[in-house]
Order: sequence, then C-alpha cells, then structure tokens
Amino acid sequence: MHAESALLDQVAEAAAASIEDVDTAALPGFMRQLDQAALLAMARTLGRNGLFRPGLRHRCDQVADRLRVAPRHRWILRRWLTVLHDEGLLHRDDATGFLHDLRAVRRSEVADAAATVHEAARGLGYPAEMARFFLAAFDQLPRLLRDEVAVQTLLFPDSDLSTAEGAYQDNVINRYLNAAAIEMLRWECQHTAAPLRVLELGAGVGGTTAAVVPALADEAVHYLFTDVSQFFLDAGRRRFGDRLHYRILDINADALGQPGSADVVLAANVLHNSVHIGHLLNRLRDLLAPGGLLVMIESCREHYQAMTSMQFLMSSRDGGPQPGTSDVRAGTDRVFLTRDEWLGELTAADYAPLLDLPNPVHPLAALGQHIFAARTRTTTDDRSSHER
Ligand SMILES: C[S@@+](CC[C@H](N)C(=O)[O-])C[C@H]1O[C@@H](n2cnc3c(N)ncnc32)[C@H](O)[C@@H]1O
Repeated sequence: MHAESALLDQVAEAAAASIEDVDTAALPGFMRQLDQAALLAMARTLGRNGLFRPGLRHRCDQVADRLRVAPRHRWILRRWLTVLHDEGLLHRDDATGFLHDLRAVRRSEVADAAATVHEAARGLGYPAEMARFFLAAFDQLPRLLRDEVAVQTLLFPDSDLSTAEGAYQDNVINRYLNAAAIEMLRWECQHTAAPLRVLELGAGVGGTTAAVVPALADEAVHYLFTDVSQFFLDAGRRRFGDRLHYRILDINADALGQPGSADVVLAANVLHNSVHIGHLLNRLRDLLAPGGLLVMIESCREHYQAMTSMQFLMSSRDGGPQPGTSDVRAGTDRVFLTRDEWLGELTAADYAPLLDLPNPVHPLAALGQHIFAARTRTTTDDRSSHER
C-alpha cells in the first residue's frame, strides 16, 4: 500500500499552487453572472411569438411542439422549463403541470447580459472566443432546438479547436484540476512497474492530455488516447504525434480492453456520456489492474450556460439511448451526477475513493467541476457481491 496521505497532500498543494494568482472569492459571482445570462436567454427563446402571453398556459410537450423542438433535443427543453421554474422565472401549476407566466425579457436586458458574459468569462479565465461562443449559441437557440444548426459549427468554426481548448484547458478550474491530475499520474509512475499503462477516454481536444503528457515526458508511459470521434483522434495525432497511441473507443459500445490491462484510466468530462454509469464503472474496474487508478474530472452541477450551448452536443443521434435514462439519473433528464452521487457510484462499484477536489466549501466548488480519483481493490475475492 502506498503512503497515500503524502500523495493527497502533494496533489492538493500542486492544485492550489496552479491558481495562486487567482482571487478565488470572486469566482462564484462570475459563475452566477453566466447562469443569469443563460436563464434570460432561455426565457427570451421561450417567450418568442407570444407563446407565454398573459393568460396562456401550456404543458411541456405543447411548448416543444409550438417551438418545433427536435425530438432528440426535447430533454434539453424539459431541463430549461424545470430550472426556469426553480429559479422563479416561470410558474407551474402543481396539480395540472401547466406552465404559465414566463418572465418577459426586455431587449436591453439581453444587451446587458452580453456584457456580463464577457466579464464573467474573463474572470473565470476563459479566452474571449469562449464568451463569443456562449453569445453565438444564445442567438441561435431557436435553431439549435429545432436541430437546424449544429452546435459544433459554433464551437469549432472552420474546424478550429481554440474555443473548445479554452473550455477544457485555459481557464481557472481546468488549470486547478489538470494540476491535480498531473500529480496523481506522476505518483503512479513512481509507484507502478514501468511502463505505466494509461488509457484516456473521451480525450477530445486534448485539454487534459496536453497538461499531463508533457509532465510525464521523463517517465516510461504507454499512453492510449481514445475518443468516440475520428475528428478528435486526427487532431490528437497532429498535436501529440507518435509519443501516444490512438484508438477509436465508444465507452457505451466498444470493448474496453483485456482485464487488468490498464494501470490508470483518465477520463475528463466524458463519463457522464455513459448510458449507465454503474455498468461503466464496473467495466472500468475490471479493465484496471488490481490497485489501479481511475482519475476522472466531472461537472457535478448543471451550468445554465452549458444548457444553452454544450449540452446540445449530448443529445443522442439516430434514436440511440440518451445517457442516464436507466441509471441514478433516470427520470430527471440530468446529464451530470452530483458529487455525492459519484462517490456513491464509485463505492457501489467497489472502488476505494481516494481523492475528491475541490473541497465542497472552497469557492472553487461553485464552479461545479471536480476531480475524483479512486482505486480498484488489490484482491478480487469480494467483488461479485457488488455486481449489479
Ligand atoms: C466534453 S468533451 C471532453 C474533452 C476532453 N476530455 C478534454 O479534456 O479536452 C467530451 C469528449 O467525450 C467524447 N465522447 C462523447 N461520447 C463518448 C462516448 N460514448 N465514448 C467515448 N467518448 C465520447 C466526445 O467526442 C468529446 O471529445
């Protein structure tokens, strides 16, 4: 057994040092500004064409029909209606479920919100492209809902990845989380027989890869960069070259690999795409060697600004199952699990949770993203009782 308390101290120190120039107390306010702007954008989209004129009331499916929301995006509309209600911008009759009295949004509020999006994005360390992306998505919400425009065309204009890189790399919370991930992997290199076999899932634009790989340059590592999309594999190959290995891997459909064939699974902002979290955690546990490490970064709260932008990437295509419909998220249309749900799922899948940052009382926690690390057991004797 490793001296893991030393590891945890080392990780927490490195993560804190990566953002020592940041006024963390200001971060929750910036996050709230983004949330408010997104709520207004939702309300403005739903209020078009007098849909919620005083006296009118609708059920959720009627709103979807009137706005001609594409079937695959209807879960997003349902989430909007829920959060607008929870935030007091829309009324719902508890007895009938009818929705009415949507908060009207003035044109001047929309202009003010645009300014706050720029300020908030800057405060959170996002590049200007990111604020432009959020605002472009606000403008396109009716067409995004109808599936007449793909959010990819806004996020990757002319196949340019810089906006997406800003989402996962060049910002305060990702700097912090990536610094923690680097320390975890460095430690594993020093305490595991060489080479360390790392499987990265959903590596995408490589925000986490780009942080971790250079930090391990002097270590013996076999690093497998995977994603469901060939587009990202090609971009990864151009960016990281022959030092890494590459493979298409769909966490819902493909075999993950031979049992015990990975020492570390690294998954940044991807595991929520699994159709059933518990089943996936079980499969990853079996893939990992005994005592192996699962390191994952996940959003543990719903960002309203993501609900008006990134979440359009998460609607399943071609009638495939929508992530979460049969697991702990069933019946909620939520994509993300809460921190407590993740810890519960890890324990239920027989991992030993090791690390979970930031601390829930730290101002960074308001940003919602967490890093979790958990180990598989070193013996397999007691696993079967935990299978679902
Ligand atoms: C939110 S992005 C995360 C990007 C990346 N991890 C980073 O840090 O830059 C999610 C990534 O997961 C990938 N993805 C989505 N569904 C997946 C699936 N079923 N299996 C594997 N990867 C998937 C997407 O293609 C995308 O690259």
